[in-house]
Parts: sequence; C-alpha cells; structure tokens
Amino acid sequence: MCGIVGYLGNKNASEVILNGLSKLEYRGYDSAGIAVNTGSCLDIRKKSGRLAILADDVTKIKMDGTLGIGHTRWATHGEPTDVNAHPHFSENKEIAIVHNGIIENYLELKEELTHKYGVKFLTQTDSEVVAHLVDKFYKEEKDLLEAVKNTVKKLRGAFALLIIAKDRPDEIVAVRQDSPLVAGVAEGEVVFASDVSAILEYTRDIFYLDNGEIFYSKAGKNQIFDFDGNKIDKESVYVDLSLEAASKGGYDYFMEKEIYEQPRVIAETIERRLDENGDIKLDNIYISKEDLDNINKIYIIACGTAYHAGLLGKYAIEKLVKVPVIADIASEFRYSDPMIDKNTLVILVSQSGETADTLSVLREAEQKGARVLSITNVVGSSIARESHDVFYTWAGPEISVASTKAYTTQIVSLYMIALDFAIKKGTITKEYYRDMIDKLRGVSKKVEKVLDKKDEYREIAKKFIKSQSAFYIGRGVDSGLAMEGALKLKEISYVHAEAFSAGELKHGPIALLEEGTPVIAIATQSKLFEKMVSNIQEVKARGAYVVAIAQEGNDLVSKTANDVIFVPQEDDLIVPILAVVPMQLIAFYVSVLRGLDVDKPRNLAKSVTVE
Ligand code: F6R
Repeated sequence: MCGIVGYLGNKNASEVILNGLSKLEYRGYDSAGIAVNTGSCLDIRKKSGRLAILADDVTKIKMDGTLGIGHTRWATHGEPTDVNAHPHFSENKEIAIVHNGIIENYLELKEELTHKYGVKFLTQTDSEVVAHLVDKFYKEEKDLLEAVKNTVKKLRGAFALLIIAKDRPDEIVAVRQDSPLVAGVAEGEVVFASDVSAILEYTRDIFYLDNGEIFYSKAGKNQIFDFDGNKIDKESVYVDLSLEAASKGGYDYFMEKEIYEQPRVIAETIERRLDENGDIKLDNIYISKEDLDNINKIYIIACGTAYHAGLLGKYAIEKLVKVPVIADIASEFRYSDPMIDKNTLVILVSQSGETADTLSVLREAEQKGARVLSITNVVGSSIARESHDVFYTWAGPEISVASTKAYTTQIVSLYMIALDFAIKKGTITKEYYRDMIDKLRGVSKKVEKVLDKKDEYREIAKKFIKSQSAFYIGRGVDSGLAMEGALKLKEISYVHAEAFSAGELKHGPIALLEEGTPVIAIATQSKLFEKMVSNIQEVKARGAYVVAIAQEGNDLVSKTANDVIFVPQEDDLIVPILAVVPMQLIAFYVSVLRGLDVDKPRNLAKSVTVE
C-alpha cells in the first residue's frame, strides 16, 4: 500500500528513486511522483497512472540532484490524480514529503492549519498536512530534524515519511510509525524504501526502523532518534537476499513465475524445518509441551488468501491436535470483542507481515495476554518482529499482487505446526507423524506433475472468458479451497466468482445458475466424494458447465462433469495443495486471454498497510 523511496548520496537521485519505485510498484500503482533537490529548488513531478508515465517524463526532462524522494500510490484519500499524487509540498515549495499510511487526525490538523495559519490546501489527501506542519515548524526552528520531531508529535495514525527541504541539499529525514520503512547505508550514501527489494542493488547493510523512530541523514552521517529526540543505538543488518529472486526470470508475468516456483519453495519450507532424523524442528517457535497443555483455544487470523490458508490450518489443527480452532478474518475479528486470555494461542498468517488489520490483531491479542505465533514470508516484517513465535515461509519475494506461492507455503507451514504440536501433545502416533512428513516431502514432485498440464488448464480457461459469473463449490477442506479459487479468478480476471460449500447450494445460491454458468467443483475428499458427485449432478441439471477437480482414480466424476482435472492421489489433508494449482493457472489464463494486467489488477495493492 504505497511505496516510498528516498536517496541521498553521490548518484543521480531520480535514477535511483525510479529504479527503486519500479521494485515497489506492486504496493500501489495508480499514480507516482518524485521530488529532487536541484540545489536551487525542489523539482517536483507527479503523474497519475503507472510509474512508466512518470519515468517517461523524467527521461524527457532530466532531474538533476543527488537528494530526492519518490512515491508510488494506492489512493486512500482523494482520487488518483496528478495533484493528489505524492510528493506533497508546502505552499512556498520549500518542503517536500512522501507518506505511506493514513494520518487519522488529518481533518483536525487541516482545520487548524487553515484557520490559524491561513494555509491553502491543494489536494484531497490526508498526507498534505505533513508538508505544511513541517514547513510551519521549520520556519520557527530553522532546523529540519527539529521541525520533523515537532510534526510527528502531532500526528495520529500510521505513517512512514520521508522529508526533504529546498535549502538542505544534503539532509533527509525518515520517520516510521506503523508503516514499514528501511534504510540502506553505504559509504556516503543512504537509500530509504518501504521494502528492501528497492535497496539491495545499492547496499545490503540495512537498518530496519522500528515504530517511533526517526532516521536522520546529513552529508554521509546517520543518526537515529525516538520521537522525544533521544538518540537510539542500533546496528544495521546484512541482508543476504538474491536480486534474481525479485525478477521475472524468463516468464512473462510474475504470477506465472511464482506459480511455477511452488515445487521449489514448498520443498524449501519443509526441508528447512527438518532435523537430521527427519523430525520437525521449529527454530523460532518456543512453545513447549507444557505450554500446549495450557492452550485451550486457538484462533487463526488473517486476511484474504492468507485467511483461506488459515481455513485449511483449522482443519489440520483440530484433526491432529484436538484443540478447538476458530479461523476468522482480521478486520472482523478485531472488533468482535474476542475472548482471548493467557490460555489462547493466536496464529497470524501474513505473507507481507505488514497487513494493518492483522498487525492490529497481534497487538490486541498480546495486550490481552495471548501468545502470538505468526506465519510470514518477510523476515524482519512488523508482524514477525512483534510476535512471540515466528514461522517463516520460504516462498521468496512474491511480487504479483495475486498470492500463489505464499498460499501453498502457508498451508504447508500450518500443517507442520499442527504435526509438531500433535506429536508433542501425544494426540497422534509416531507412525502417523512420520507418514505425514514423508507425504509432505513428496508433495513438491506431485505439484510438478500438476503444473505439467498447463495446456489443459488454458483450454478450460477459454470457457470462462466470456462468463459474467463463475461458482466454486466444495466440501470439507475443499470448501475453504473453493474460496481461494474464486478469489484468484475475481481479483485478476474481474469475473464475478463466488464460493459455496456444496451442501449449502440448495439453500439458496443454486437459484443463480443459468445455462452455461461455469462451476468448478472440487471433489478431492475421499469421504465426501460421493456427496460431491450428487452436488455436481444437481448443478449440471440446472444447466451449469461443470469443471471437476478430483484425485486420479475417481473416474466416476467423468460421467457427471463436463471437464475433469485429475490431480495425483494424496492424503485428504494434503491434496488441496495440489488441487489449488489448476485453479491458480485457470485464473491466470483467463486474465491473460482477456488482455488484463495480470500482476497489477485494478484497485488492488500487494501490501495492505491501512485498515
Ligand atoms: C490475494 C491476496 C490478498 C492477501 C491479503 C493478506 O491474492 O494476495 O488477499 O492474501 O491482502 O495479505 P498478507 O498475507 O500480506 O497479510
């Protein structure tokens, strides 16, 4: 949700910033802007639309200067217009700022600035107040750092900020409060960004800023302060992430590449958690048998795709660990007055580790005394840092807005946690534990086999491209999987897609079916297979075009469905990891065939850092 980049050093700032923003465009892509200190003024360019439009402008008319800030936006306050794009600036154009997050008290501050100081606002954004506040204090203090310190004391909400001033060509101030921000340092240079991927090309020495920190850089000297102005001693961290991991690697789309990476990253997620005897060892999870015996309830909380992974985790944990599990979406859970205490374990699932709703749940759960275990893909993310226990998925950077490899690695992570807890508690036998670990280890090879049938999925996708609606149905774990299938289709291909528990259809939704409506019927569960076949017959009888997904050998389904996608035989708990892959590829092909922007679907952003 909005990406920010800043640079101070000896290179052309606009080049470093545009390059960094291109790595962050997944965070927001409805407008972009850049401000460079030229030595005589702040050269500010802002364009609605994709970053390429801004880059084109900067190519035509160069921006000279070694200090600058840039932003790629996902609009919250005000439409995505040139004017509302960041950077925002003071009336005299002496101060420029970029902001990621939401200033919750901006109306109050705007009122004060307008009435008390006669400030005229140019934009409809919440962020503009920051530029005017810094300007007001800067005029009083004549000190940029002090002006920023005074400003942040007045702000409420979430904000990662970068601030520069016209008459300070060698100074930049960065602030972090509840929105991600990192600073990479090299000899005589500092690069700021919302995420390390924008920095690694320049340096791998990274400072992960914490909430309430101000990073001040002047002429190659860096200092960190808290909001009260106290100096903070902090060490940089060497980040050893491959640059190649964040490129398309020969594929046309990030989503396609990420779907095809699944065999490898699933294997990584598993193998890194096995000791020399093949037993699960959870490095950053410190939950003992005694702790487990005291846990009487588990919540799995997340948003979107991560929540869908949580639904499968619920099945696994209840089945294996025999503890009641409630899976809920973070934005609802937080305001439902949940019954949490010290005997509650809260498992948070978040690819980015920065999702605002999930982060809020974390803080509330910890405040109420619960233990918080997070499953996240981003090392050093806010959720990872603030949780008691962490399980890192080894999915590598996920750039496409639609989540794929993060989802399958989240499921694997939840299953490993379930197995570990169950063996510690003695609720499963050693034989079952070993057998399930072996099966998990074998899943990568089976995902490869599923991926081999891409032409089949492309043909099926052709049947969806003209449809207004599609439905996904399933029973048991397959009903959670159906939700993920429907989400993938709707978010990247804009086909209205809904998921239903197959048994629930006749209680209302079946009325929606028309001649030719595509229905994906997921029938991977052995115990529920016959019931699913009946549900397929019901929808077929009402004119639906049914694409079934079933385990190899269940040929009965071929007699009922119009098309069948067979996946290799597998344990009922594990087979959804195979069954989701054709659904990811069908959604992908529908989007490609419709000529849409697969990796950057409209209205969305990768990292949702506002509530
Ligand atoms: C959908 C998708 C989103 C995310 C959700 C949570 O493809 O990616 O639904 O799953 O926004 O994001 P994280 O996992 O970063 O907390």
